[in-house]
This record gives sequence, C-alpha cells and structure tokens, in this order.
Amino acid sequence: MIDRGFEVVIARDIEDLSRQAAGFVIGLLKNLAEAKEHVAIALSGGTTPKRLYELLSTVSFHNEIPWNQVHLFWGDERFVPLDHPYSNYRIAYDTLISKIQIPQENVHPMPCEKADPQVAAYEYEERLRRFFGSPSKGWPQFDLVLLGVGVDGHTASLFPGSSLLKEKRRWVAAPYVKRLNAYRLTLTLPVLNNADQIIFLVAGKEKAQIMKGLFAADNTRAGLPVHLIRPSHGKLLFFLDESAACLIDQGKGDDQMRCSLGDL
Ligand code: 6PG
Repeated sequence: MIDRGFEVVIARDIEDLSRQAAGFVIGLLKNLAEAKEHVAIALSGGTTPKRLYELLSTVSFHNEIPWNQVHLFWGDERFVPLDHPYSNYRIAYDTLISKIQIPQENVHPMPCEKADPQVAAYEYEERLRRFFGSPSKGWPQFDLVLLGVGVDGHTASLFPGSSLLKEKRRWVAAPYVKRLNAYRLTLTLPVLNNADQIIFLVAGKEKAQIMKGLFAADNTRAGLPVHLIRPSHGKLLFFLDESAACLIDQGKGDDQMRCSLGDL
C-alpha cells in the first residue's frame, strides 16, 4: 500500500462535497471543543468554500458548533478592503460570520486596511503570536486549515515559482503576485504544514489536471504549492467532486481512495 499520507473523499458535485465537508468539520469542531477551550481555524478564500460556509451557518449545523470557542483566522487574503467583494473576509462574512453568534473578538481578519502589505503581514503575524504564544516547535498550530487550489496549482496565496515556497522563518508574508498584478497576504508553508488537520475543497473539471498529479509518487518535484502541503504531523484530507477527480490515476494502492463518506 502506498503511504501517501492523505485521504481523498470523492463527492458527486459541489453540493455533495460541501455537505460532506460540513459534516466532517462539525464533528471535528465538536470533538475539539470538548477537549480544548479555544479552537483555531484558518479559513480558505475563493468561491469553492462558499457553500460549506453557508451550510455551517444554517440552523441545523449552527446549533451544533460552539462558536464561542472557535477562532476564525484566514489562510490568505486579497489585499483589498475587507468590505470589497473580492475580499476573502467579505466572502466568509456574507456566507457565515454574519449569520452566526460568534464573538467579535473570535474573528481575526487579515489587516488589509494597512497601506503597506508588508506591515499588514507583520501585524497579522504579531496577532498570531498573541493568540498562539511562542510555540515550542516555532510554528503556530491551527486545529483546522481549509484550503483551495487554483488551476495553476497555487494554494492559499502561495503561487508556483514563488520564493515563499522556501520560507522557513516568517509565519505570514505579503507576496506581490505578478500574474495578478496585486499583493496578497498568506500564511507560509511551515505554518500550514504544522496544522493538526488540513482539508482541501476542490471542485470543477478545470482543477482535474492539477488533481491528476495528486497520487503521482514524485509530485512534489513539480514544485506546485498544492503538492507541497504535507502536514508534518497532522492529517490531510481532500474533498473533491467527481469533475475535479476525473483524471486521478487509479493506480495500485488506491484502496486508500475513499468513495463518498456516505458509503463508508
Ligand atoms: C484565494 C485563495 C485561493 C483559492 C483558490 C481556489 O484567495 O483565491 O485562497 O488559494 O483557494 O484560488 O479558488 P476557487 O475556490 O475560487 O476556485
């Protein structure tokens, strides 16, 4: 059996993917909240998680999550005002935060009101240090990190070819993304890989080519950020819809390939 160090759940479509991911996240948060006072989540940006966020805010799920113990951070942010429609904070606010009873002090947006993105990155890192303290391993340990994947293989705001992929000191960085002609804020790889649980949400056939490499034994050689996400001690779980999974090589050892959670 090839030890890939991660598992895959394949859902029918974005709705099924979101519902299965919501069920998983609810269970995880409930267990964590029984074991610890504060639960730290780094939310993903982009459009894929929107339905998950909506589901987490609905009454059926809402009453099951102890939001007063949950702290929401972001894995990355577009460097735009927080009320900008392109803002990852705004996306989460509209679909989740505005609909739940979460204490304001538990919501930690990246400070995009700053004029200088480097200052914003520094300040967010300070905010993380205030929350996590100075952990013995040197990196903050999120209980859950949600991530998406771009069609170029980027994740969070770590893009292919970025010098950030070799960052070993900073927790938060502010890369200028030439292709987007824009600054971003992002947690760095060591922070993401120090999480206890990482979940990718990937949907759509435009992501199939990137996901095809998921099971390739040497996929880290390509240097695509998505394949550099390998938790140092935590768990990694991909929620894919059938379109995004349609090119995955079902080679040997795919007994780890799990069908939808509903079949287990
Ligand atoms: C962002 C992200 C980014 C996102 C992927 C997928 O700010 O854009 O956090 O990493 O997760 O680009 O985006 P979609 O879900 O919109 O395809």
